[in-house]
Amino acid sequence: MIEPSTTHYVINAAGPLQGTVAIGGAKNSVLKLMAATTMADGTYTLYNVPNIHDVSVMCRLLESMGATTSRRPGVVEITIADLEPVAPFALVEQMRASTAVLGPLLGRFNRVELGIPGGDDFGHRPIDMHLTGLETLGASFTATADGVSGTTDGLVGGTVRLAFPSVGATENILMASVLAKGTTTIRNAAAEPEISDLASFLNKMGARISGSGTSTITVEGVDALEAVTHRVIPDRIQSATYMAAVGIAGGEVVLEHARYDHMAMVCQKMGEMGLRISPDRDGIWVSAPDRMRSVDISTLPYPGVATDYKPALVALLAVADGTGIVTENLFAGRFRYVDELVAMGANIRTDGNHAIVRGVERLQGATVTSHDIRAGAALIVAALGADGETTVVDEGHVVRGYPDLAGDLTALGANVVARAV
Ligand code: UD1
Repeated sequence: MIEPSTTHYVINAAGPLQGTVAIGGAKNSVLKLMAATTMADGTYTLYNVPNIHDVSVMCRLLESMGATTSRRPGVVEITIADLEPVAPFALVEQMRASTAVLGPLLGRFNRVELGIPGGDDFGHRPIDMHLTGLETLGASFTATADGVSGTTDGLVGGTVRLAFPSVGATENILMASVLAKGTTTIRNAAAEPEISDLASFLNKMGARISGSGTSTITVEGVDALEAVTHRVIPDRIQSATYMAAVGIAGGEVVLEHARYDHMAMVCQKMGEMGLRISPDRDGIWVSAPDRMRSVDISTLPYPGVATDYKPALVALLAVADGTGIVTENLFAGRFRYVDELVAMGANIRTDGNHAIVRGVERLQGATVTSHDIRAGAALIVAALGADGETTVVDEGHVVRGYPDLAGDLTALGANVVARAV
């Protein structure tokens, strides 16, 4: 099991990247599929499961409710029986994606307890859309000492209009509506590939969902579901991280199993920057013949450029030719890593939800700190374009999303050493 200990990633410049890297299963999909297993008893087998810490946290969360789980490389097996629909605060606070059990547990058991940081003020917390949507289907929520408690006399289908296409709210409402009576329509639904993966998993279990991957999802409620096996879609954020690595270090790499169709917009943006990208037989081929050119980038819900790609894109712009303006439209204050890039010699100014990135020829090695999964990965990738040695001090964030970032980059010819401290 991967445990998030403090790791120093020590990076030195190396030649262009060459070779093939296998892209693993999507973190943001597998965690939701695991949450969905709570909806029917039986034994589930998930394939293409990344060996990341967040999967371990979700295993523990399911076990705390009564499930049993076992893992072998790339596979997690989950047996659901006699569940108690209570998600304890101590586990939920470790990982926001734990909130994905809310809808499934409520839909199946007509009650749920979810420990959640700031739960006593949940009306103003960013799960307000999850709760309002579930209320539309007949749930009632009350604040508890450390979270929320939900009950219902039985969910009934209805029309939920999301004020914003929230990924988490769409998933919770989708899962809850599968066992509701009648038809549910989710309007302004999020359309991310991970939601389509969840819908296809649920449909295999016996659900009747149509329209996933579009802004209107329709669910015909069913009485019962059954356990299934499923292969998780590849991680598009990991894929984009490695594309940025090629853009920064140069070279030619095949991202085995990566799905171009899940990444069309970010591929288009990186293509405008000068990366050559094309779908390969089972993956994506990428090469960087020259220094990148700057472009402007705005993050948007799918099919727009995902906010999770942004740190790697900013790292790429930091060494591109020209000036690019990056606008964050999803989360406030997601520019903490910019100070670290500046410490490496990048020329970046932030103003509210904008970052103005003036590309420099080379960054300089420095000791910098990673504050979250994607920022940590972006700093490691940025260091591929730095003179001298860079140390990225990471308190267990990177292993939450990347099974072996240092190993993968090293296999492509980079010089990255991960040292547990
Ligand atoms: C998921 C992803 C995350 C990604 C994000 C957007 C997982 C585990 N995480 O997060 O990596 O960055 O989608 O693509 O899949 N909001 C509210 N109220 C709500 C729900 C959301 O105000 O009830 C706001 C959030 O604060 C944020 C925005 O809506 O500003 C988008 O959030 P959302 O799409 O829900 O992201 P997550 O599902 O949390």
